[in-house]
Amino acid sequence: MNSKRLLEAITKTEYQIMGHTRRDTQVLQKALNQLDGPLDSDMYGRGKVIEDFQEKMANYLGKESSVFFPSGTMAQQIALRIWCDEKDLKKVAYHPLCHLEIHEEDGLKELHQIEPILLAEKSRVIDLDDVVNMDEDIACLLLELPQREIGGQLPSYETLASISDYCREKGIRLHLDGARLLEILPYYQKTAAEVCALFDSVYVSFYKGIGGVAGAILAGNQAFTEQSKIWKRRHGGDLISLYPYIISADYYFDQRESKMEAYYEEAKELADKFNQCSLISTVPEVPVSNMFHVHLQVAKDRAEQILAEVMEETGLGLASYVRPTSETSCTYEVSIGDRYATIPKELLTSTFDMLDEKLASK
Ligand SMILES: Cc1ncc(COP(=O)(O)O)c(C=O)c1O
Repeated sequence: MNSKRLLEAITKTEYQIMGHTRRDTQVLQKALNQLDGPLDSDMYGRGKVIEDFQEKMANYLGKESSVFFPSGTMAQQIALRIWCDEKDLKKVAYHPLCHLEIHEEDGLKELHQIEPILLAEKSRVIDLDDVVNMDEDIACLLLELPQREIGGQLPSYETLASISDYCREKGIRLHLDGARLLEILPYYQKTAAEVCALFDSVYVSFYKGIGGVAGAILAGNQAFTEQSKIWKRRHGGDLISLYPYIISADYYFDQRESKMEAYYEEAKELADKFNQCSLISTVPEVPVSNMFHVHLQVAKDRAEQILAEVMEETGLGLASYVRPTSETSCTYEVSIGDRYATIPKELLTSTFDMLDEKLASK
């Protein structure tokens, strides 16, 4: 009942804790404005604009080659298909809450007849034991870093390295869903190439922490990326021109790559503010990237009312939705971008004081 009020309240706020800017046409406009005059369009995957960007990303990720895709959904189904064909085994393993399992309408199963083996409990990330104790033979293991649906949790770097060693030893391909790869590098204190060296293939998104229009890069060895181009055409992903996505991806990559450390520090600061409020906790308690989930021990409707009141009274946007987790609890996701740094510190303090008071007297 209060969900409409919540949405209306956030649209009227002057400041917001989440994201970079409004998602409107200015995002593309700004990226196009920095070009010095016209640039030839890419044509079906060829041309300077796409080839230069693919080379830049392959270098950044420390891989032989990379291919630009319109979406991560397309890129990852294709990556898993290639690894399954290589082993002539249509089985992969991944987390029960990974993007492929819950957000892609079973594309992997329906389009490719690939059977997923679900590893680990939903509430935690995949550990080495889950992989070692798996009964099934698989062609590929997919790790989503960070694991978005559980607040963006991460395994330790040592665990990642041990999973990678084990997979290499057993002839299992390791694929990285690195939709938010840049966002986790400050926590691991590693370069993108160092993390990607543990994996055979990697996908990175350009519209999450980077904040472009849309688009994805799939990287790996040359033979892998060449095959991915064939599948991209089969999937209808070889659009005659992808340059609006590429130009925005490139522009915002350059703008924001170096800001990931700041977003991560700000996420930790903000999570601490939430954790100091009555009836609120965050997952993870201390974020390991720019994102976390806020859990409120309050029924959804009441939480919406309180959050809307706080936003109406302070002008600081805190949430646009909340999702029930039980009759008496709810949750929502926070991810930090450019906006957080613009919020006056006193406004943050007074807003969280008000939120705490309202929750304490609920
Ligand atoms: C972890 C993860 N993987 C894959 C995707 C798919 O990306 P796309 O929207 O480009 O298909 C997303 C998108 O939200 C994601 O969060």
